[in-house]
Amino acid sequence: MTDWLQKDETYLMSTYKRLTIAIEKGEGNYLLDTEGKAYLDLFTGLAVSVLGHSHPKIVEALVEQGEKFLHISNIFLNKPAITLAEQLVTHTIPGKVFFSNSGAEATEAAIKLVHKWAKMTGRENAGIVVLKNSFHGRTLGAVKLTRQAHVYQDYPLPAFPVYEVAPGDIEGLQEIITTYSPVCLLMEPVLGSGGVIPLSESFLQTAFALCKEHDVLFAMDEIQTGMGRTGKLFAYQHTTVEPDLILFAKGVGGGLPLGGVIAGEKLANLFKPGDHGTTFAPSPLSAALGNAVMEALLVDGLLEEGKKQAEYLWARIAHLVDEYPQLLSDIRGKGMMLGIQTKLAPEEVSHIQQGMLEAGFLIDVTQKTIIRLLPPLTLTSEEIDRFMVCFRDVLEQAARVKGEVM
Ligand SMILES: Cc1ncc(COP(=O)(O)O)c(C=O)c1O
Repeated sequence: MTDWLQKDETYLMSTYKRLTIAIEKGEGNYLLDTEGKAYLDLFTGLAVSVLGHSHPKIVEALVEQGEKFLHISNIFLNKPAITLAEQLVTHTIPGKVFFSNSGAEATEAAIKLVHKWAKMTGRENAGIVVLKNSFHGRTLGAVKLTRQAHVYQDYPLPAFPVYEVAPGDIEGLQEIITTYSPVCLLMEPVLGSGGVIPLSESFLQTAFALCKEHDVLFAMDEIQTGMGRTGKLFAYQHTTVEPDLILFAKGVGGGLPLGGVIAGEKLANLFKPGDHGTTFAPSPLSAALGNAVMEALLVDGLLEEGKKQAEYLWARIAHLVDEYPQLLSDIRGKGMMLGIQTKLAPEEVSHIQQGMLEAGFLIDVTQKTIIRLLPPLTLTSEEIDRFMVCFRDVLEQAARVKGEVM
């Protein structure tokens, strides 16, 4: 183990603060480390493994496509990708798909499309409105739209204007739109790394109406919230808004890199050959896995099953929030995207995360004091029960320590 840790520190840039466990294998909703210890994975590689690990449907698609070919150029018709694009459009908005390899690249494609549209409609230097604390990726274009200073502050940012509005602040949004005539509003329906903050239905509906009135493109970053995570295929579908642009990634490739945008009718035909592209996307292998994920969600009923299990998880955690008011203040999010706001110092929250890890449960912490859960949609009631027993024990311990200190 120490060897892997040492080699990691020697040969890899430390762009992530790593847990000191090396993963050997994934099995269902569990990850197994090199010592054979199993961890219930309530993080899913940051909202990626919607079906857990080594799901039979994913393995079958992987083998089937793997035996045919792994890569072809974009100059050929790519059957798995065409099928996936058709599925995505059929279940969202009329339009067309551009595939990328990642979320940040989906944001880059969105930025280019929006600017192309701005140019076409005579608003060349118009800006993009995003939410305070938003996260849209780390490449240089995307980082301009990511309103978390530690992510963007050291880099030269592109020149286009960006305006920031607080989630829920409809007057602020109205003022930005009427003062600066931006060309697009881009929002995560539930802010992820920004603190697991769901946008209210009324905010989304009013913002959408404002955008329609002022000819502002309405774009949803569904990179984290998409692929069933919130109980709908995409989170905007909890409302009646109709986005002009939907950004997706993470869960769409079934564990392999894949992202992209679904562009509505205003934007669908703007890119011409040579305007945008990349060698690897859409990987036929990622797309084949994407088709397996779509089938599991929409045909095999996993979307509904995940929603049901998420309701059970929420109810159990809400009970815990009531039981430990000195430690926890709130549970936020939607479906299998949960943020538990603690009243603890960052070190105390890390201690809870470590306690859970030692007991065999992988959980995440965001914004230093929010415990974040991004479980697979395949999570079972028994696994939730086991998690709750352990979580309660760890909280009880934290409460005792806090009681002694006070
Ligand atoms: C909402 C959102 N947008 C964009 C991204 C960037 O995606 P990627 O890490 O695949 O570049 C993320 C990643 O966490 C995200 O959560």
